[in-house]
Amino acid sequence: MNAVEVTGVSKVFRVAKGAEVVALDSVSLSVVPGEFVSLIGPSGCGKSTLLRLIADLDQPTAGEVLVFGKSARQARIDQDYGIAFQQAGLLPWRTVTGNIELPLELHGVGKAARRARAQDLLALVGLSDFADRYPDQLSGGMQQRVAIARSLAESPELLLMDEPFGALDEMTRERMQTELVRICAETGAAVVFVTHSIPEAVYLSSRVVVMSPRPGRIQEVVTVGLGSAGTRDDALREDAAFFASVKAVREALHGDAVHEKAPHSVRGVETR
Ligand SMILES: Nc1ncnc2c1ncn2[C@@H]1O[C@H](COP(=O)(O)OP(=O)(O)O)[C@@H](O)[C@H]1O
Ligand SMILES: [Mg+2]
Repeated sequence: MNAVEVTGVSKVFRVAKGAEVVALDSVSLSVVPGEFVSLIGPSGCGKSTLLRLIADLDQPTAGEVLVFGKSARQARIDQDYGIAFQQAGLLPWRTVTGNIELPLELHGVGKAARRARAQDLLALVGLSDFADRYPDQLSGGMQQRVAIARSLAESPELLLMDEPFGALDEMTRERMQTELVRICAETGAAVVFVTHSIPEAVYLSSRVVVMSPRPGRIQEVVTVGLGSAGTRDDALREDAAFFASVKAVREALHGDAVHEKAPHSVRGVETR
């Protein structure tokens, strides 16, 4: 059974005076358990919309979304996935531990079990020494690690992440990517990850879904052959295979831009 099964999904937003925005047009995508899939594409191509439909934060106009074989709604009720967005979204009046425990608390997990789970997660994201700090005492990267720990609290088999490292500086971002790869290898969770960054998508993913806007569609799916999450380390960023995949994703994105401008496609001509 697939972690995510999106079939023929369209999403039309009605905006002012009857005008419509086709945010997604007949999008189909499967994510198998344990797989890391990134969504990449220019702003407005429907990445966040697709993620929100999977998370049941919005409903498709047409088509079907299944999460572990259930409706998106049932999967949300059953807490089958964890979510992390660009803003860490921590509660400022709760400590780091208090924030990580929140989803467990909401689902009636007892105090001792909550505490133990929070400690494990803090170790996993390398923040054991910061358990009693408040969010405003942490750097942006640390806050984001707390948010990731919180998204993992209920051991989800699926993580939905929308530019979770978008607000971080480049070096912190690379560290977080390495961390996330390790966490995924350890937990075996499947991930649907939205990003603007080509190297980030390639470094993290087994497949990169390249989307194009107006209407939002899947342009191409690039398979990244860099080995399993457990074998990905920083050295990979200098690897020829890494650059080859970066090039493939760039060309997929680029092909679209060229295509839009010129009816006679000049794809393959490198202009960047
Ligand atoms: N709630 C909404 N109401 C109207 N239009 C929306 C809404 N959400 C998204 N859109 C439009 O749908 C398109 C896709 O948006 P989005 O999924 O946020 O793109 P991305 O995340 O790829 O930048 C854009 O044209 C955006 O303006
Ligand atoms: Mg977005």
